[in-house]
Amino acid sequence: MEKDLIAVVMAAGKSEKMNSKKNKLVHKLYGKELVSRVVETAEKLDCDEIITVVGEQKEQIVEVLKDRTKYVEQKEILGTGHALMQVVPELETKSGQVVILYGDVPIITKDTVEKLIDRNRNERESVTLLTAISDNPYGYGRIVRNEVGEVKEIVEERDTNELTAKIKEINSGIYCFNIEDLLETIKDLKPRENGEIYLTDIVKAMDDRKLKIGAMIVEDNTEILGVNDRVQLELLGRILKMKINTMHMLNGVTIEDSDTTYIYEDVKIGKDTVIHPNTTIKSDCEIGEDCEIGPNAYIREHCKLANKVKIGNCCEIKKTTVAYGSKVPHLSYMGDCEIGTGVNIGCGSITCNYDGVNKHKTIIGDDCFVGSNTNLVAPVTVGKNVLIAAGSTITKDVPDDTLAIARERQINKVDWNKK
Ligand code: UD1
Ligand code: MG
Repeated sequence: MEKDLIAVVMAAGKSEKMNSKKNKLVHKLYGKELVSRVVETAEKLDCDEIITVVGEQKEQIVEVLKDRTKYVEQKEILGTGHALMQVVPELETKSGQVVILYGDVPIITKDTVEKLIDRNRNERESVTLLTAISDNPYGYGRIVRNEVGEVKEIVEERDTNELTAKIKEINSGIYCFNIEDLLETIKDLKPRENGEIYLTDIVKAMDDRKLKIGAMIVEDNTEILGVNDRVQLELLGRILKMKINTMHMLNGVTIEDSDTTYIYEDVKIGKDTVIHPNTTIKSDCEIGEDCEIGPNAYIREHCKLANKVKIGNCCEIKKTTVAYGSKVPHLSYMGDCEIGTGVNIGCGSITCNYDGVNKHKTIIGDDCFVGSNTNLVAPVTVGKNVLIAAGSTITKDVPDDTLAIARERQINKVDWNKK
């Protein structure tokens, strides 16, 4: 029989420490809901099925994830072991592996989870735990090993004694199980005195059954950080920012100030492009080589900039393409716009792309010079090699090779103030 790979996303827990009206897992980290990030990781693993365990404020989770996963409801929130028990009926028809991900551990990478799954399969372990070595293990479950290094059990913070509290190897909450061995052993889990069933108790239960337990130490500890409150949410944002910026810098992009540069995921940037401070670049943008972006630039979703483009100080662009060598140097908004090559957009020029109901397009041909403080009222097409006089409000299309002036003629009244 073909072996399955199932991913279970634990998302039923309470989120009191967020102090929020919303479920913790629908709070966004760098533009994506926490739970959505975890499901995205599961999707990249090419699983046969993704099952999300929902409970508290489940409708909010379902609204975010829609039909990307199957749902199992945990009607009473009685611990991580109890949560996984709700998935047992789904697993009974399966064989192979199941990987457990926590909805509040959002920056775990596909590569790490894949390594865990491979190790679990290759070593034929009943469970493989993802662990980390931490100088500050407080709050996490501790991994207890025997004298020859075999994992024996996980001790939760509240159950630690003087000896186990000092253990630096911690439980990430991410595990890969052999499905048959999990189904066999999960029956052994018993509620604690507080009524909760801890999934972590399964390690000792498996050891009692002489099943094989493995642990893989994560290379980058930041991957297993969880979000319990908004302080940790902000911290993870900073870690993610640093990781993304580092990747671009190593790829040949100059970032003058990483602290104030926010590049979302799914952004491509060519070599020798320079990003000045206070710049945000949203997802699904492509920026060419030798470009100059910022300071204070806001490049929103779906923008495409060719090589040698400049988007300068206090400019916002959205769903806009800019061809080779064109410049939007100061104080502009270009939305739903196509800008040809060799174009200069004068300071303070904007597209009026929204009529209150719909968005409309602006097209600006090659070699245009758009004078400062021009309003381009969309839908509008400006031909090639057009000069638009400063201060114009362009409401009609402009043919190629034309000068367009669309403003009141200046009147100078010499004697206006004489009595
Ligand atoms: C858990 C682990 C701990 C580990 C830590 C890592 C247990 C008993 N302890 O503790 O060893 O070091 O994670 O972050 O597992 N959830 C449900 N249903 C429930 C309870 C929780 O779906 O009844 C979900 C939560 O939404 C969350 C995840 O499971 O996504 C973890 O639960 P949480 O309460 O945060 O466990 P920790 O105390 O952090
Ligand atoms: Mg937690």
